[in-house]
Amino acid sequence: MSSTANLIDDYGRKVEYLRLSVTDRCNFRCIYCMSENMTFLSRKENLSAEELYDISKVFVGLGITKIRLTGGEPLVRPGILDLISSLSDLQGLDELTLTTNGALLKKFAKPLKDAGISRINISLDTLQRPRFRELSRTGELDQVLDGIEAVQRANFKNTKINAVILAGYNDDEICDLADFAIRRDLNISYIEEMPLGSITSHKRNHTELSSKVIRKKLETRYKLSDTNYQTGGPSRYVSLKNSKTKIGFISPISENFCSGCNRVRLTSDGQLLSCLGNTASIDLKTIIRKYPRNPDVLTRVLRTAVKNKPEKHHFNLNRTDILRFMNATGG
Ligand code: 5AD
Ligand code: SF4
Repeated sequence: MSSTANLIDDYGRKVEYLRLSVTDRCNFRCIYCMSENMTFLSRKENLSAEELYDISKVFVGLGITKIRLTGGEPLVRPGILDLISSLSDLQGLDELTLTTNGALLKKFAKPLKDAGISRINISLDTLQRPRFRELSRTGELDQVLDGIEAVQRANFKNTKINAVILAGYNDDEICDLADFAIRRDLNISYIEEMPLGSITSHKRNHTELSSKVIRKKLETRYKLSDTNYQTGGPSRYVSLKNSKTKIGFISPISENFCSGCNRVRLTSDGQLLSCLGNTASIDLKTIIRKYPRNPDVLTRVLRTAVKNKPEKHHFNLNRTDILRFMNATGG
């Protein structure tokens, strides 16, 4: 592929990574992600499998080498395995990965492997059953634990746990979650909560906990060494003596990692976001429905969108400027 095919923004960042939200629906209602009563998009409002495929194909032609499927919960989308199979055949795509809440993995782990998923991230914020119910509102811890086991049995490598840490909710489990990851040979990233979507369960400036504090807590139990390990995301990783487990920190609030940002996102209803922390979007759904199966139009639009990618995000925990919920955005 010639270098002119690459997507490069006005700040010189090369965009190689697409996060594709395949549904806004979810079988959980995590308190930091959703409000208790959510309305979801209709089937027609979401992009069809063909539209998702057509857009992805143009992206890959422009130099995207990694696609991560997200949601909501990607595994509740009907036909998800067929979509994965078709995407995994795209020439030029090196990695097709998945972020999931894990609840359906017992059934899906093996078929996901067969369809072409190469790596899986599983959200897990607590190891305590009642607390799991409180944080997810509708989820059950054991389903997720079974799901993790199924993923490992299906021989996935470098599986990662994502834990959003909220002060007063699960910050007393920081070390226990690391213990769990180490015992199971999993990687783990701790995530600072972002102010996306207007929620009612808690005030985000009350639950704020920085990666620095999380790291300090871990250091009471482990000796951590900095590493250069990278998976193409914003996690900064540390390693442990005598363990393969990498521990990552995703710090959208306390550290601005935008200068290394290599990604764009497509929401399930076809809005292209070149930055999670900004409201600007491009309505790809309208464009693709007006000009179906027209890669030239899409190519022009995608190039312009990437070119104008904002320099950085500005999150403010005292206000919710970004009314988009995370489930519509795709983690
Ligand atoms: N802030 C930070 N992380 C969030 N996630 C969902 N909502 C938020 C938020 N407001 C996480 C999920 C999952 C990943 C895709 O995004 O827990 O691990
Ligand atoms: Fe669902 Fe993930 Fe949002 Fe939880 S964080 S409600 S699992 S999309």
